[in-house]
Amino acid sequence: MSILIKHGRIITADCDQAADIFIEGEKITAVGKNLVMAADETIDASGKLIFPGGIDPHVHLDMPFMGTFSSDSYETGTRAALFGGTTMVIDFILQKQGHSLSDALQEWKSRSNNNCVGDYSFHMAVTDFNENTKKEIGHFVQNEGITSFKTFMAYKGALMIDDRQMVGLMEEVKEQGGLVTVHATNGDMIDYLIAKHRAEGKLSPLYHYLSQPEVTEAEASERFADLANYTGCPAYIVHLTCEGALNAVRNATRRNQNVLVETCIQYLLIDASLYRREDGGKWVMSPPLREKKDQETLWAGINQGLVKVVATDHCPFKWQQKLMGKDDFSKIPNGHPAIEHRMELLYSEGVNKGKISVNKFIEVACTNPAKIFGMFPRKGTIGIGSDADIIIFDPTEKHTITASSHHMNVDYSAYEGWEVTGKIKTVLLRGKVAIDNNVCKLEKGYGRFIRRNKVNGII
Ligand code: URP
Ligand code: ZN
Ligand code: ZN
Repeated sequence: MSILIKHGRIITADCDQAADIFIEGEKITAVGKNLVMAADETIDASGKLIFPGGIDPHVHLDMPFMGTFSSDSYETGTRAALFGGTTMVIDFILQKQGHSLSDALQEWKSRSNNNCVGDYSFHMAVTDFNENTKKEIGHFVQNEGITSFKTFMAYKGALMIDDRQMVGLMEEVKEQGGLVTVHATNGDMIDYLIAKHRAEGKLSPLYHYLSQPEVTEAEASERFADLANYTGCPAYIVHLTCEGALNAVRNATRRNQNVLVETCIQYLLIDASLYRREDGGKWVMSPPLREKKDQETLWAGINQGLVKVVATDHCPFKWQQKLMGKDDFSKIPNGHPAIEHRMELLYSEGVNKGKISVNKFIEVACTNPAKIFGMFPRKGTIGIGSDADIIIFDPTEKHTITASSHHMNVDYSAYEGWEVTGKIKTVLLRGKVAIDNNVCKLEKGYGRFIRRNKVNGII
């Protein structure tokens, strides 16, 4: 099967050119002006922008968490991602404390195998680092193609590891050629503040926010950077939200340390005032939404090259699930739905409103995730030999985000009524048309597990 895409404007992280693309099978085999080639199908992309497929390196599908499961399955989640131009996601396996990493991999495979519509990979979350876990790290890097290891400095009593485990893990991951990623907030301090607020009868969603003040994230980010600097381990902070935490990363650059930073679309666009609403539980996530000044810091951080990735931390729960915490904020399952709208929101609010360039948009949404997580140039760009993961985008079409038309398995939208400018029209995944005019053409099972290469934390 061959496809010729004609008359588009191709945007990558470092170029912007009017050119055609020729695809044979799963790969791009030619990029150039006025290509004349016989193809099984020709797509006219006049007036459209052509982007590489988006990569969201932070999603939680069908994940057991806080007494329930996140509501998107691998099928509904990866399909919704495709509707939004995200052709690949990286999901999280959670080790059960007292059990092995391999047990956890088997459990996650049982839910994901043959169920994905789009491509996917896993980070391995290490929640119990010991002599046995240590022996498994090399196997994951060498044989499973899983080269990033997630840690939690919070969720005390469930997922959190202590600094002793963190240092041990960093030493081993460095040795094996992987990357340590972190949810960087001070779990002990948060645990204390949650208990204090509950004891005082302060139980509304606002106290979720007040139990995780900026200092909890700034302190943990600095500590994580220090430990990574000491061990020399490549390091990545997930879902960074605030000025204090970004300053810790900025300080680390003074000793020429390169701590990679991800923020998420919600921290750029919405703020903590939402927790005062009656339905504030919709935005209960960790870390919580912050202040307007933090949004400005994060946009600036993208342009300064400190914030390398914009992900979603997509972890949806239906309203009924959120109501598990109607009388106590600490029981509201943490997370919000965004997998479908990251690319359009970032383009509309970022590129259209002049906050970032269109090349920067591609860099943080497509290219850097591929580079950081060991998939470049197979993924994350448009070039000869790359997978034909391609978005055809109308930069002028306006539309409104609403739960009644989205494809995520959740009965509300965190962005209900937002008008965005720019629409994903067609999406290709490995040479097949995945989305065309609001219709998904692929079945579950097409999505492939992507084995990733070793990484060194330098991009
Ligand atoms: O609230 C969140 N972020 N839920 C998912 C788990 C995590 O901490 O990433
Ligand atoms: Zn987290
Ligand atoms: Zn997460």
